[in-house]
Amino acid sequence: MKKEQDLQTLFAQGNYEKLKVEADRLLKINASNYDAMNALAVAYKNLGNTNKAREIFEKLINLDLKKDFVYSNAGNFFLNIGNVDQALKCHHHAVKLNPKNVNSLDSIGLALSNMGKDLEAIEFYKKSLKINNSNEYSHHNIGNSYRNLEKYKEASTHYELSTRNLSKCQQLECIYHLNDIEGFYTKLDIQSKNYHPHPLAATLSAHASIRFEKEDNYSFCNNPFDFIYSSNLFELEDFDETLIKNVFEVFNKSKINKKKQSLLKNGYQSSGNIFLINEEPIKKIEKIITNQIEIYKRKLSHFNSTLISKWPKDYNLYGWLIVMNKGGRLTGHMHKEGWLSGAIYLEMPDKTETNDGDIAFSLHGSNYPSDGKSFREEILEINKGDIVLFPSSLFHATIPFSSEQKRITFAFDIIPNDID
Ligand SMILES: [Fe+2]
Repeated sequence: MKKEQDLQTLFAQGNYEKLKVEADRLLKINASNYDAMNALAVAYKNLGNTNKAREIFEKLINLDLKKDFVYSNAGNFFLNIGNVDQALKCHHHAVKLNPKNVNSLDSIGLALSNMGKDLEAIEFYKKSLKINNSNEYSHHNIGNSYRNLEKYKEASTHYELSTRNLSKCQQLECIYHLNDIEGFYTKLDIQSKNYHPHPLAATLSAHASIRFEKEDNYSFCNNPFDFIYSSNLFELEDFDETLIKNVFEVFNKSKINKKKQSLLKNGYQSSGNIFLINEEPIKKIEKIITNQIEIYKRKLSHFNSTLISKWPKDYNLYGWLIVMNKGGRLTGHMHKEGWLSGAIYLEMPDKTETNDGDIAFSLHGSNYPSDGKSFREEILEINKGDIVLFPSSLFHATIPFSSEQKRITFAFDIIPNDID
């Protein structure tokens, strides 16, 4: 009993190195100690050793244990790495063993929402809330599904029950869609006074300032177009055709599912975080991005902006691939969970028209009501090997192209861990 508690304490402390050592020690005494196996897999997952974590989770789920937490943890892992089918199997099994497993109920909801099945997702979140009605994450997630379905009132009611910064910003967006101008400015004021600056609140404030002809007082980056950076990696970094080929090979052999993306036409997006793939080509891309971000920060440090001055101290890189075929396009959107967003263009189609496949930045997007006002837009020319970095608050869209060649983007976000 003491030994199990030790594992749980180390897990709760986030001390994954020690958790790994302790789990290893217990497995030497008894190789079939499933608590230790589970702890070892969780430790490897959090230490970034995805291959080892996968190996142990796969072994564990094949043991056919009657322990729901084993399947729940495995399901979380598979969802993180983008293997949605496997994640769903694990979480459904966990719920079969324990119908009150809130984590698995929520995760099934997340996976279904990922697949564009928000109506079904809502049913699972409701089951989870029936067990624990004060779970902020469940309220946030069900809010997201209602928002995806454009049921803004229902979404807003659930976001109200979560204290997370992102929930408050999502709620602000719902109120904006509902054309409640007074409610919008009241909530914007509360967010800016009580929470860390957030790109979504910045986007909304900038949009509303044009729509209602008011001053934009939100502090993030006052002129986001000044904060767009691009450079060609073939000229600067350790980046070549071999690396591009190797990234595709790694991607194709990892069992990553495609994610439903309503904004994306004639293309698909990968699920999960590509940086969790523990392979050399992905590590190389990560290093290139990290170098470029440092250059970006230095180049833009002369601007007086919250974007640079309140740069997150603790953040994760989250990456995914976007593959587009002829006619492919991604309509205007911004990255709500990011701080800085970016893309590396691994393949670009030949241009038939001047701006084919280029990126258009704008202050307008996400089907926000515009009241006939005009919003600034700028097109940036994109070539193969380009890296582009920009504030996550800025809307961007892909200009459709007519070439038969694919347009393949390695997209990424800096996701702060301290602004939630
Ligand atoms: Fe994007």
